[in-house]
Amino acid sequence: MTVRVTVADPTAHRCDVLALGVFGGPARLEGIAAKVDHALGGLLARVLHEEQFTAEAGKVVFLHTHGRLPAGRLAVVGLGDRDAFTMDRLRLAAASVARATSGRRLTRLAFPPFQHRDWEPAAIAAARTQGALMGTYSFTKYRKEKGHTVHLELLAANRAEAAAVEAGCRRGKVVADAVNYARDLVNEPTNILTPDALAAHARRAAKGTKIKVQVWGPSELKKRGMELIMAVGGASAHTPRLILLEYAPPRPKRTVALAGKGVTFDSGGLDLKPAEGMATMKGDMAGAAAVLATMRALPLLAPQVRVTAAIAAVENAVGSRAMRPGDVFRGVNGTTVEITNTDAEGRLILADAVAHLAAGAPSEIVDLATLTGAASVALGPYAAALMGTDQALMDRLVAAAGRAGERLVPLPLYEEYRQAMRSDVADIKNSGTRPGGAQKGAIFIREFAGGIPWAHVDIAPVAYLDKEEGTTAVQPKGASGYGVRTLLEYLTARD
Ligand code: BES
Ligand code: MN
Ligand code: ZN
Repeated sequence: MTVRVTVADPTAHRCDVLALGVFGGPARLEGIAAKVDHALGGLLARVLHEEQFTAEAGKVVFLHTHGRLPAGRLAVVGLGDRDAFTMDRLRLAAASVARATSGRRLTRLAFPPFQHRDWEPAAIAAARTQGALMGTYSFTKYRKEKGHTVHLELLAANRAEAAAVEAGCRRGKVVADAVNYARDLVNEPTNILTPDALAAHARRAAKGTKIKVQVWGPSELKKRGMELIMAVGGASAHTPRLILLEYAPPRPKRTVALAGKGVTFDSGGLDLKPAEGMATMKGDMAGAAAVLATMRALPLLAPQVRVTAAIAAVENAVGSRAMRPGDVFRGVNGTTVEITNTDAEGRLILADAVAHLAAGAPSEIVDLATLTGAASVALGPYAAALMGTDQALMDRLVAAAGRAGERLVPLPLYEEYRQAMRSDVADIKNSGTRPGGAQKGAIFIREFAGGIPWAHVDIAPVAYLDKEEGTTAVQPKGASGYGVRTLLEYLTARD
């Protein structure tokens, strides 16, 4: 999809589809929708009545204009009740219309000017652009049949409004492009997206920007004592990589360190996963994808924050070189780990990545990982779980997620779970019994954060949807790109 801003009167503008947002409770035509209805001699109101249109959020009804307007069709989209209206609803409406337009293989879509007393025109334009770009995403790289390209126009009443809309549109596009880039990486099959290929993506993303990249392969990892990353990735012919990125603006206010779980395929290792559990495990690098997509977008948004990132990329494979239950390895911070389950591999690679970041003394560390099935059991496909050691950091992340339109729910970290991770032979074991599984994973990683304020986002519930779910318009089936919006909102917030 392409997006541009045009100064035009929506009732006089030529396009294939003119979108009209309508509030519910009960549905009433006002503003531009009323004007359009008038131009059609009341036909719009009649059709909506016949269709029993209640303006339910995201619901779309199409109407042909048969030459009575320059717009070939109207797409009326429900905005839900006016009192319950949010930026999320606006994003959803934009996504629903854009998706429906693309599905009908129509090309020129126009959004008329939209005002809201609580929001800046730029913020409105950003949300609409983002929704439309995220909603029309599809992964068609390996199919003969490609998706249909929609050209979206955001209409502005005058030049002054157009400037604000233009600015919002740019930001919305940067964010949505980053989300869709993360989705592409996650949807890419493992036979293509190996750890080395992920590193190549990182190099490409940084090329021509101020982002610095370093990639460590097996010999460097061994030399530096990163036994945990080597233990997880050791059985695969596609050897491990630690991908280090840095975004450093001139006078940074603080340094945020990001870690991403980049398991390009999780077979479970020797404690092999059952078939149903393994089917979507190409997506076990979604944390890494979110971190890389975020880093790639930072130069375009230029926040005053230094950001360092460590992406641990490995394949958790089976073979005679695979780690075994009972093995003991030493992490880069000196902590020893007894392997009790080879399928609890994410926390192992994050341990080395987080310890490495901690050694750089950042202000805070945030890791993103498809870490536990337990988080999915707790939250279903609707929210990611947040855990950590610093309440202020966690509060800022939850607030950023809320503004960005991603659901993030805090979970506690009970000290009893640290007891449950005690090992007889090493400092800690990598898995415990099932109860509190998400917290146990977090408590393991905490051991490697070196006392630096740290937060862990378990995105296992939301990273990859293998069937259609409620808010599909913004988040299609497959990779969601979850985390990118929250991280970008968090890193660019003025607080
Ligand atoms: N990658 C999985 C977690 C996961 C499950 C992500 C479902 C996305 C969807 C992770 O490596 C894993 O296998 N976790 C185990 C941990 C257990 C062995 C302690 C789990 O959750 O069962
Ligand atoms: Mn696993
Ligand atoms: Zn995993």
